[in-house]
Amino acid sequence: MRSSEWFGLKGKDGFIHRAWMKNEGIPDYEFRNKPVIGICNTWSELTPCNAHFRQLAESVKHGIYEAGGFPVEFPVMSLGETLIKPTAMLYRNLASMDVEESIRANPMDGVVLLCGCDKTTPSLVMGACSVNIPTIVVSGGPMLTGRYNGKNIGTSDIWRYDADLKQGKIKEEELQTIEAAMCRSAGHCAVMGTASSMACMVEAMGISLPGNAAIPAVDARRKVLAQLSGLRIVEMVKEDLKLSDILTKEAFENAIKVNAAIGGSTNFVIHLLAIAGRIGVPLELSDFDRLSKNIPLIANLQPSGKYFMEDLFYAGGLPAVMKELDSILHRNCITANGKTIRENYSDAIIYNSEVIATLDQPFNSQTGLAVLKGNVCENGAVIKPSAASEHLMKHTGKAVVFENIEDYKARIDLADLDVDENSILVLKNVGPKGYPGMPEVGNMGLPKKLLEKGVTDMVRISDGRMSGTGFGTVVLHVSPEAAAGGNFSVIQTGDVITLDVPNRTLHVEVTDEEFERRKNIQPQKIPPAERGYVSLYIHHVQQAHLGADMDFLRGGSGSVVVRDSH
Ligand code: FES
Repeated sequence: MRSSEWFGLKGKDGFIHRAWMKNEGIPDYEFRNKPVIGICNTWSELTPCNAHFRQLAESVKHGIYEAGGFPVEFPVMSLGETLIKPTAMLYRNLASMDVEESIRANPMDGVVLLCGCDKTTPSLVMGACSVNIPTIVVSGGPMLTGRYNGKNIGTSDIWRYDADLKQGKIKEEELQTIEAAMCRSAGHCAVMGTASSMACMVEAMGISLPGNAAIPAVDARRKVLAQLSGLRIVEMVKEDLKLSDILTKEAFENAIKVNAAIGGSTNFVIHLLAIAGRIGVPLELSDFDRLSKNIPLIANLQPSGKYFMEDLFYAGGLPAVMKELDSILHRNCITANGKTIRENYSDAIIYNSEVIATLDQPFNSQTGLAVLKGNVCENGAVIKPSAASEHLMKHTGKAVVFENIEDYKARIDLADLDVDENSILVLKNVGPKGYPGMPEVGNMGLPKKLLEKGVTDMVRISDGRMSGTGFGTVVLHVSPEAAAGGNFSVIQTGDVITLDVPNRTLHVEVTDEEFERRKNIQPQKIPPAERGYVSLYIHHVQQAHLGADMDFLRGGSGSVVVRDSH
């Protein structure tokens, strides 16, 4: 075993490796000839979605001990979506580096990844892929559904309450009551936002135990799943079942199909592309459209539908969804428990057809994801049709351009802003390099004067992202981003843009010659040079259609450590 290169050595080196473990009160036999299992913990009080992970880690440890392994818990950078500024996405790649180097540098034969809040799942999986030892994911689980004034509420309602506040329908004091009513238990966002989409992604790809995605954080069965995962990782080490054995091209394709059927987050695209880049599976933006195209929405979950993750669990969980997708999935993909994905869902039952529908009679014939091409986005852009407005899926309008987020904030509510419900709001310089970090501002709020007229949706286009809990006719991830100097960087107010989702196009009535003329006048903006990590990020981050990973982080370096300074 890998860990024996630390604890099994003779002489001074073995002495040093073992002696300092013994100062933790650990007897000699604990780490000799036993699988040593790392528990990679993103617990942090600054990541409220993951604040229950110390208890969860204890359950994992029980399972590891039970199977004859030796658990070692270690912290990594934790990314709390709600508190980190300017945006947690800026640090996803940094956290992945922390995870990768922590796993490789330490005596681990296998690793359990404790993931929850949005970026904690992709960053941990990306880092682990670059090492590629036996790995299993345990998600923290969603919060209980929020309850306010007799209604079920969740994160997607924040945008509705914000619009109500702008229109004077509710007061600031009421918001404080709603805050407590929405976040009433441990766990991550209760809707099919990015955290839930990531938990579904790992389950669909087979790198967690079945059922992992939907068990509420505070349901006792979440602890049971954690314990069983601890038990299983020891077996995975004995079987040498590595991430690369599970994460095949077919496993990625299954995840894309499942994400379309559940109306998963658009962030899923960026994170899955980055993970594929680490494990060496060829995956392109066009694959997402090809594989999602004819898959309707069958999980009736917010923000695309009505219900919450708790409801999904009671309705049968992700295994029930996957069983309904059986005819279109790759059924023989091997998973973390050693069974095929089909064996994992074959006994699942749909207990509530209001929450999980069928492919024949879906909730919404619109798929959860579409990839657009055109002269606005030479390398592509994405939209979530299932959370968009039907009447805007084919729409032509004049652009109202905001050069950056500060420009948007300064002008969006001005009474004399030349905008109506047919306009298309365009927000630039919120991409990976331009912001930097690609924040979730793409579903920008509508102008106050249009909200007051009762307008609830408009076409919006940006090079940024949208929260997985967001909704609307929102085109995201425009690539190349404005800061990279593509056509998008020179789109001007008044340009006529046509969004045609059925034909997957996003076109602006500007000739190639005019684009060139504008680019010559408006030289490419160079983002401010900053020191430290942000500087490294700006210079090495790739565009959204490649997963926004750093160029030098693609691929992996394996688990071998060549040099030893002891
Ligand atoms: Fe953590 Fe939504 S804020 S999952």
